[in-house]
Amino acid sequence: MTSKLLLRFTSYLIAGAVSLFNFQASESQTLPSLKDTFKNNFLIGAAINTQQFQGKDTAANRVIAQQFNAVTPENIMKAEIIHPKWDVYQFDLADELVAYAKKNNLKINAHTLIWHSQLPAFMQHMQDPDSVKKYFANHINTIASRYDGKVYSWDVVNEALNEDGTLRNTIFLQKLGGNYIVDAFRLAQAAAPQTKLYYNDYNIEQPKKRAGAIAIIKSIQSAGVRIDGVGIQGHWRADNVPLNDIEESIKEFSALGIEVMFTELDLGVLKNPWDNNTADVNAKAEANANMNPYTAGLPDSVQKVQSKAYEDLFRLFLKYDKSVSRVTFWGVNDGQSWLNNWPIRGRTNYPLLFDRHFQPKDSFYRVIATKGK
Ligand code: G3I
Repeated sequence: MTSKLLLRFTSYLIAGAVSLFNFQASESQTLPSLKDTFKNNFLIGAAINTQQFQGKDTAANRVIAQQFNAVTPENIMKAEIIHPKWDVYQFDLADELVAYAKKNNLKINAHTLIWHSQLPAFMQHMQDPDSVKKYFANHINTIASRYDGKVYSWDVVNEALNEDGTLRNTIFLQKLGGNYIVDAFRLAQAAAPQTKLYYNDYNIEQPKKRAGAIAIIKSIQSAGVRIDGVGIQGHWRADNVPLNDIEESIKEFSALGIEVMFTELDLGVLKNPWDNNTADVNAKAEANANMNPYTAGLPDSVQKVQSKAYEDLFRLFLKYDKSVSRVTFWGVNDGQSWLNNWPIRGRTNYPLLFDRHFQPKDSFYRVIATKGK
């Protein structure tokens, strides 16, 4: 009797497991993919973390393989990680990323060579301009040449502008002067002749900052140096996406003869204390329950605002698909987004197309549906 019961119980378990497997298999078979849907329009990318390119986040790995054809390393090619000491480079993680991308047919946008943030400690307070110059050249030559032919593109310079379009007062500007951006591209061009070279920044759809970006791009071009594209990061609030400025930017940037990309797209649903769009990683604020209202789930009304914003954006991207070459989301699912910890730590944000259980959100389906409209 006992063994009969045990047998029946075991067969229930097996039947349950089989139907769960079938459910997951059929769900992933029927789920449309972003990369296929937009295959004739632009690349579709995601920023990925170490767990993911090491294949340890299996749920994420399934989504990455199914949905994306491009990836950007969220952190591991930043200077403080890849070049921690004057003459020490740590290539292990970037090499693993390259192997993962090759296996999964993903184009890598390497991020980033010259950025004032996340610099290694030895570099942050360097006083002597000659040392900065040496660091700058060694850093670009060593890293860009190692990955030439292995990565598709580089964000050569990241976030060099202030909101008013002037150059940000970084250690590079202070020690090397205003021509440092042209020099960075010149060095990258020599070190990585097979790799596309981009300028990347947030809020450059805004008129003043956009004018600053145009001035940078023109200065590179008139020095006879190669620049292949510009990345508009796209960290916007779901209820405040500046569609007109974005459209104007696509027109103005593409008129310079370069690719336009949306490189770090996420549409957060939480207010920030300054009530504007920014992605300055150094801007921080204190935790406060009023600023974290959706810990129990995303209300439908807010989901609708986000779905509509994503739909409007993708319609615009499709309208200009001759100019837009890639759209990359800054993360794979909502739970993994930097926006859960910035500018306030420990919040529950919902900025992406997949929820915390890797299920496609309404925003996902609305993005896919833009192709049919
Ligand atoms: O790796 C350490 C870990 O050892 C430590 O325990 C933990 C404690 O806080 O910190 C970990 O490092 C964090 C790192 O992300 C990896 O998770 C850093 O504190 C944190 O500052 C870092 O944040 C990254 C941020 O750039 C600064 O580099 C975000 O993940 C990343 O999404 C964000 O990405 C930037 C783009 O590069 C440029 N544009 C804006 C965008 C969003 O800020």
